[in-house]
Amino acid sequence: MEQQNLDALLKDMDLDEKIGQLLQLSNNFYEEEVVMTGPAMQLGIGEKEIFRAGSVLSVFGAEKIKAIQKTYMEKQPHHIPLLFMADIINGYKTIFPIPLAQGCSFNPKLIQECARIAAKEATVAGLHVTFSPMADLVRDARWGRVMESTGEDSFLNEQMVTAMVEGYQGGEKGAELASKGSIAACVKHFAAYGAAEAGRDYNNVELSERTLRDDYLPAYQAGVDAGCALMMTSFNTLNHIPATGNKWLMRDILRREMDFSGVLISDWAAIEELIYHGIASNKEEASKLAMEAGVDIDMVSGCYINHIAKLIADNGIAEQLLDESVMRILQLKNKLGLFENPYKDADEIESKNMILCQEHRERAKIAATETIVLLKNEESILPLSKKKRIAFIGPYVEEERLYGAWSLLGENKDTVTVRTGVENVYRGSSDETIFCRGSSLLDPNEILYGFNGIVNAHNEQSNEVLLTEAIRTAEKADLIVLFLGEHAYHTGEGGSRGDITLPNCQMQLFREISKVNDNIVTVIFAGRPLDLRKIEKNSKAILYAWFPGSEGGNAIADLLFGEKYPSAKLSMSFPYSVGQIPVYYGGFSTGRVFNGDRANRFQSTYQDIPNEPLYPFGYGITYTEFQYDAVALSKNILQKRDLIHHENVIDIIEASVILTNMGERMGVEIVQLYICDIHGSVSRPARRLKGFQRVMLQPGERKKVTFEITEKMLRFYDINMNYVSEAGEFRVFIGGDSITMNESRFVLE
Ligand code: BGC
Repeated sequence: MEQQNLDALLKDMDLDEKIGQLLQLSNNFYEEEVVMTGPAMQLGIGEKEIFRAGSVLSVFGAEKIKAIQKTYMEKQPHHIPLLFMADIINGYKTIFPIPLAQGCSFNPKLIQECARIAAKEATVAGLHVTFSPMADLVRDARWGRVMESTGEDSFLNEQMVTAMVEGYQGGEKGAELASKGSIAACVKHFAAYGAAEAGRDYNNVELSERTLRDDYLPAYQAGVDAGCALMMTSFNTLNHIPATGNKWLMRDILRREMDFSGVLISDWAAIEELIYHGIASNKEEASKLAMEAGVDIDMVSGCYINHIAKLIADNGIAEQLLDESVMRILQLKNKLGLFENPYKDADEIESKNMILCQEHRERAKIAATETIVLLKNEESILPLSKKKRIAFIGPYVEEERLYGAWSLLGENKDTVTVRTGVENVYRGSSDETIFCRGSSLLDPNEILYGFNGIVNAHNEQSNEVLLTEAIRTAEKADLIVLFLGEHAYHTGEGGSRGDITLPNCQMQLFREISKVNDNIVTVIFAGRPLDLRKIEKNSKAILYAWFPGSEGGNAIADLLFGEKYPSAKLSMSFPYSVGQIPVYYGGFSTGRVFNGDRANRFQSTYQDIPNEPLYPFGYGITYTEFQYDAVALSKNILQKRDLIHHENVIDIIEASVILTNMGERMGVEIVQLYICDIHGSVSRPARRLKGFQRVMLQPGERKKVTFEITEKMLRFYDINMNYVSEAGEFRVFIGGDSITMNESRFVLE
């Protein structure tokens, strides 16, 4: 449709119809007969509103979506199609590793391909919009939603958000939204949701504007620059103002400064929650604040549908605001091609053939292989020798839920378990049982309230019985691989934890096994960096599998037996203990830098724990070793652009290292570039990631790896809040993690 047709359509819509476009309802309004005493009544919604609502969330399946769309459009006054949205986070039914693991691949191209597959499966099943990617920067492992982020670094997050948006939308700038296999991306949660105080979900966020701008906004901006069609507001307050009613944040920053022109949707009932945040005394006031902030769609709270008409009648808001929001929603429907084809790609037969097809599974396996991080490998115990007697023990050996908390459509039956994966590559030398459970996943009295239903260990065999069997198995084996982890529902939304260790029953299993066999390889499943101190001490090797998705078992087995080699690096630092949190790489110096001398009390450190995380951001090892030669710079002075005679010439320093594979196996190293601005008008972080490259080397091979440094990479918000670079000296680090000391220096003039 041309813009003039959309203008004409808007003109022809009456007030109720326009307000309807701003309403998003949940699936039950369309899937079931809505009993008017139920949710509909509470929200003040009748049949009229149901057939005027602009969008619905969480309806799944081509057949169902087509049927709903057909009935809906017959009843919608102008036959405007309904938008179908859902959380397709790490895959539709072919499940990829959780986003935090995806960050560990440092491979945006792969992540783009995963997003593309998710989009293809979701669209053929009838969906138009996914509430992904989550661009929230995260530094607090207690927060359950760290699993949905790609980590603690804004540069890495920018690359990943761009990759996901382009993968979902089918190209740069969302130009291909109407084309087959494309789904509109909704970047979330704007803004700074990842900084929830004390890691408690939905909690207040207190951030300086400088940190917000330097570290938190860039990933959302990357989403906008990649053309994301939607943005979602966050639940949290930001410096005392709830984001969903924050005009400065939404209009001045998001729309004006960041140049976002798409649809802004509230998070679930976040408009109504303005009341509980204490900035509105009723739903009418909440609606006014959200409208003034420019929030277009009200996700399920029913505030807009019941209060906008009155607000307009009383001159509380101008009808113009409503028209702007409606137009943005109509434009989105138009970009998706829904006016011409309201069913878009929905196709039952194709759904059956394409969803979970072999090709998609292959990609999921590659993704899992590239996101599992090897943290420790003493005595080169890995890869495992098939000649050894190996026992595979732990509650994750046969666990099917390897897809994390946010996979609404992932199914247990479609997961390759560890046991199946191992059996695909390894047969034990005898008939002895080599697989056993050892303990329940949850402690006996623990109850987890999941997204749908509860989880507990009530139907399990007693842990004493499981443990006895495990010890007997461990005694007979040369080597034990333990598969431990938190439950998917320990993570995700509402999954904050104050203690980030493994459940007690699993720790008991670990302790008892360590007593009878000290050749332990531990594989951990988790949605966050866990406190691994005790595991670290008694494991010869640790493989951090996160929640690896549908092909997890195959990927893990391939890595364990050396069919594939690990290449991932951490997207988030692993705290030594919860007491360090927030802990992240490249923090700020203090006036009292700890020099290791505990006799000097007045230094910035703890009395009982180290300052450094157990494993830093960017860290990860593999089955070979890489040697970095010293950093070489093409020159030591970088000219600011305005000093160069020709305006368009940008000065560049080439920073390079020679990387050598010192071992006997091939491997991929993720080479990382960090820069530190030594002095600034404000204190500058100790270092920030500015580039990375995946480099594959054969045994003995040497390669030169080069990065370009430009003035633009050195910019930050200065003392006057201007985004500039400042002349002075900089340190350049190139290495295999965020604590590398392989450095050189240059001067910006
Ligand atoms: C979450 C969002 C999600 C939305 C819709 C909210 O509770 O915070 O991330 O997209 O629900 O399911």
